[in-house]
Order: sequence, then structure tokens, then C-alpha cells
Amino acid sequence: ADNLRIALAGLGTVGAGVLRLLAENGDLIAARAGRAIEVVAVSARDRGKDRGVDLSPYAWEDDMTAFAARDDVDVVVELVGGSDGPALALARKALGGGKGLVTANKAMVAHHGLELAQLAEGNDAPLRYEAAVAGGIPVIKGLAEGAAANRIERIYGILNGTSNYILSEMETTGRDFGDVLKDAQALGYAEADPTFDIEGVDAAHKLSILASIAYGTQLDFAAVDTNGISKIRAADIAQARALGYVIRLIGLSDCKQEGGERHLFQRVAPYLVPVRHPLAAVDGPTNAVVAEGNHVGRLLFQGAGAGDGPTASAVVADLVDIARGTRMAPFSQPVETLVASTPADPGNR
Ligand code: NAP
Ligand code: HSE
Repeated sequence: ADNLRIALAGLGTVGAGVLRLLAENGDLIAARAGRAIEVVAVSARDRGKDRGVDLSPYAWEDDMTAFAARDDVDVVVELVGGSDGPALALARKALGGGKGLVTANKAMVAHHGLELAQLAEGNDAPLRYEAAVAGGIPVIKGLAEGAAANRIERIYGILNGTSNYILSEMETTGRDFGDVLKDAQALGYAEADPTFDIEGVDAAHKLSILASIAYGTQLDFAAVDTNGISKIRAADIAQARALGYVIRLIGLSDCKQEGGERHLFQRVAPYLVPVRHPLAAVDGPTNAVVAEGNHVGRLLFQGAGAGDGPTASAVVADLVDIARGTRMAPFSQPVETLVASTPADPGNR
């Protein structure tokens, strides 16, 4: 079969990770996909930056939106970030022109997911975003399967690797918040703007995406009551521990019948977690998501939530799906209309 030809926008932590993964596991990936995944063109801000990967085999575009006009590209991979700006312009052009789009950009999906899904469906173009939630954990695919025959009643878990790394490092080493945040940035876990991580916004992006899949309803990021960990001090962690708890940034959502309506509650906040609860043992950049369905019972998804290798794995898995022609359920057609039970205003973030 013909190669699946891709163009890669963004060559930072995740983008360079995708190039390394394709170089190292290319034969295995081609065998699983039924055809090779071929990188045709790449783009980033700074052409001269040393990224530790050889870019000479690929065409370079200064303007990433030019990918959408290239006849030699089947799928655009967007690993730039930002809810709007160049990432959104590229996504609209690629899908609008009938090309596939794979993205790890939860901010863009949380804000514009419905529009992008409609564009994808209208143009019969595949749209995938497994890496947008919980890094290497196939939680979007897993949750879609888990929810297919069930009424999901509740989802909760640890959705931000940076915050979890900070809280668990502070707890075990007594180190300072700011120092550990710097480590998380150096390790490639944090967002370009780390306030998104520590103020709960990144977790809120992810929670709203999971809720839309779990409950089959429209994405409602604006309704997530969003709180972060920036005010947590070492003394709070020590005090919690003395009482038999750890502190974790938890995203929590439930869907309940209230009168004649079904209500959706979505919240991100630091919670006290009893030391014997499974989420208390989730440390470092690990994420864990629990979903409870009315027939399937409790499902637990756990694994690396951030970093180059895990996130690149999810991106390439999406490409393998597209190469094999696997179709996803339509995303733009909600099966249920839910009323937001905790309207909150996360501002313009
Ligand atoms: P990153 O290391 O900051 O890389 C971003 C890349 O985009 C860089 O190559 C940068 O170019 C390029 N870029 C940024 N702004 C641009 C612009 N205006 N025009 C052209 N290129 C631009 O970010 P990352 O950690 O790889 O994250 C990429 C995406 O994956 C984000 O949506 C993020 O939320 C998501 N994600 C990240 C992780 C993770 O663990 N890091 C996990 C899951 C999802 P230069 O290199 O030339 O500056
Ligand atoms: N900044 C994000 C996190 C990256 O720390 O979880 C993974 O989405």
C-alpha cells in the first residue's frame, strides 16, 4: 500500500519525540499499520535550533499552514500548542481541505473541538487527539469503548502530570514548589505557559474532553470549576500527611438526574486523598483516570501522563489507526443534552 505521508508542525518535546519514535520503531509501526508512515515536511519557529534529530530528509515550511496545500501530505500532525493562533489556523485549513489531523493540543480541542469535529466529518477527514489527554494512556479510545454500551455516571482522576510531579516531589523530598516546577519544565512535562498546569486549566481542558466522550454530550470547558495548586505549601502537605492524607490535583465529573433534567458537574481542585486510596500512590508525572459505568462497573486507566516518549506513542498510535482506515464514532453528534450544574467562569484562559 502507499505510504501514509505526514507533515509535522512543532518540533519541541513531543514533535522531536515523534521523529525519534518513527526512526527507532519504523519497521514495527509499518507492519502494524499495513504501510509505512513517511514524514514529508516539518515546521517550527526556529529553523536553526538543534533538536537532536536530523531534519535534512524533510522539506521545511516556514509557514506551517502551507502543509494544507501540499499534494504530497495526507495527514497533518499539529504539535505546536495554544488554543487559537497558528495551531487552530492549521487545523482548520487541513481539515477543511480534506486532510487528516492528529493533534496533542487539549487547549485547542477543549475550545474548538466541536467545530473541528464538524469540519472533519463534513470533509470526510480523520481527526484524532489521543495524546491530548493523559499522555501515553489510551484513555480516549478506552473510555469510548467503556462508554459504548454504558451510562457513565462518574469520571475522576489525576489529569496533569506537572502538578502531580510537583505535589509528590514536595511530599517525598520536602523540596520547594518553585524548584520542582523548574524540574518539570526541564523534563518536558509542563505547558509552554506553566500557569495552565499549576492553576488547573490544563486538567480542566482534559476533563471537559473526557466528559464529552464519557457522557456523549457536547464539550463544555467553560463550565468546569477550575482550581489549581499554586497556593499549596510544604506545610499543607505535611499537615495532610499527619492526618493520613496526601494532596492530589483531581479532575472530577459526574452526571446526575435532577428532576426532569440530567446535570453535568465538572470540577478541578486539590483534594485530600486518603493514603490507602489507589490515587494516593500515583506519583511523579503519572496520570490515572477512573470511570464508573452502570453495567461495566469501575474502570481504571493509569500510566505516564506527560513527556516525550509516552506522548509521541499516543500520536503515532493515532497515525497507525488512520493508516489502517479505522473509523471513530462521530464526535459532533451528542447523544445527550446535559445542563451544567456548576457554572464557573475560568476567564479568558
Ligand atoms: P514545546 O516543546 O514547547 O514545542 C512546541 C513546538 O511548536 C516548538 O517546536 C516550537 O518551535 C513550535 N512553535 C511554537 N509556537 C510556534 C509558532 N507560533 N509558529 C511555529 N512554530 C511554533 O511543546 P510540547 O511540549 O512539545 O507540546 C506540544 C503540544 O503537545 C501542546 O499542545 C501540548 O499541550 C501537547 N502535549 C504535550 C505533552 C508533554 O508532555 N510535553 C503531553 C501531551 C500533550 P521552536 O522549537 O522553534 O521554538
Ligand atoms: N503539561 C501537561 C501535563 C502535559 O503536565 O500533564 C501532558 O498533557
